Amino acid sequence: MSELDLRINIERLSTRLADLSAIGAIEGTEGSARLALTDEDKAGRDLVVTWMKDLAMTVTVDGIGNVVGTMAGQSEGPPVMCGSHIDTVGTGGRYDGNLGVLAGLEVVETLTAAGITPYRPIAVAFFTDEEGARFAPDMLGSLVYVGGMALEEALDIEGIDGAIVGPELERIGYNGSSPLPGAVPHSFVELHIEQGPVLEVEGITVGAVESVQGISWTEVTVTGQSNHAGTTPISLRKDPGFVAGSCVQFARELALELGHPQVSTVGRIEFHPNLVNVVPASAVFTVDIRNTDETVLRQAEARFAEFLAATAEAEGCTVETRTLARFEPVPFDPAVVDLVESTSQRLGYSVKRMPSGAGHDAQMMARVCPTAMVFTPSVNGISHNPAEYTSPADLEAGANVMLQVMLSLASEDYQ
Ligand code: GLV
Ligand code: MN
Ligand code: MN
Repeated sequence: MSELDLRINIERLSTRLADLSAIGAIEGTEGSARLALTDEDKAGRDLVVTWMKDLAMTVTVDGIGNVVGTMAGQSEGPPVMCGSHIDTVGTGGRYDGNLGVLAGLEVVETLTAAGITPYRPIAVAFFTDEEGARFAPDMLGSLVYVGGMALEEALDIEGIDGAIVGPELERIGYNGSSPLPGAVPHSFVELHIEQGPVLEVEGITVGAVESVQGISWTEVTVTGQSNHAGTTPISLRKDPGFVAGSCVQFARELALELGHPQVSTVGRIEFHPNLVNVVPASAVFTVDIRNTDETVLRQAEARFAEFLAATAEAEGCTVETRTLARFEPVPFDPAVVDLVESTSQRLGYSVKRMPSGAGHDAQMMARVCPTAMVFTPSVNGISHNPAEYTSPADLEAGANVMLQVMLSLASEDYQ
């Protein structure tokens, strides 16, 4: 069979997606909870590594726990790499990240079954802690892989539960010795669900992702005066809860005022001591602000900081902030984006160029090699939710596009 006619096997891919989602399964749903470096993450890693070895791939693990499986090519140069992550948020779906990794294994199995050895090696990676839900920043493993953060700094990061990255990596046995920064691939392509509504609403099968929007995560701690909820007159309060609540409201107003595609979210909030009849002593919350335009993103950050300072001051509270993540918008390689678009057209799939609203490992890999992404539709645009769903036909389309894009990139003719 000619390479151009090669197609992935959707039953095999769906079975692997189901088997992986059974680890950390959230009862009564198709989703999973495999927060980075937990026991569930370890079990998921072990399963995927077993699959890599079953496919005769060479498996390496680096010091931040990134795993790369490689299928030999006819040449020994850098591989065409694909991949994503298998950690999830606490309320994760079956497809976020997992699709990109397991579709990579499906590419390898399809090539192997057809007896095809591409000119360049094919590598499939899963990167540590892409979600950032337990240890910030997000995309931690791929950031370290490309040299964007020193390994020592990453190993010292404390999670939301007080755990530290280094000891957790050791505990689960994924503190490997493969060198960091990691070897630079020939090129990188990540298949991922869109996690938004655009493809579904427009009835389009494939997204050729041109860029990833900028991401700004801040943790805010507001400290006031804890006091009796019944006896303390409003005018005498120093209430961090009020400041936090006002910020939640302002985050929405700001996004509406700046207009699409500005988004802002307060996703985590904790009051202390968190009791019904106590004015809180402190409030800790996070704000996630994103935009495709760096200038507007900076404006949004400045406006939010101004509002926070003024509201806290008026309430007699003090504020401390800590940056958890800050990544500028990332453009992908125009030639690889073109290849995703033309490959989709050749395979008969409708395709649209689009930015990504979510962060992805591909945005880190874009720092070191030509990179782009393939999106498949998300039903109702739902993600970071166990109800996340993409139809088998759309998964198949996305994986076939990735297969053919990787074959093109891995051929001797592609420079
Ligand atoms: C990562 O999934 C993010 O975009 O928050
Ligand atoms: Mn993801
Ligand atoms: Mn995610």
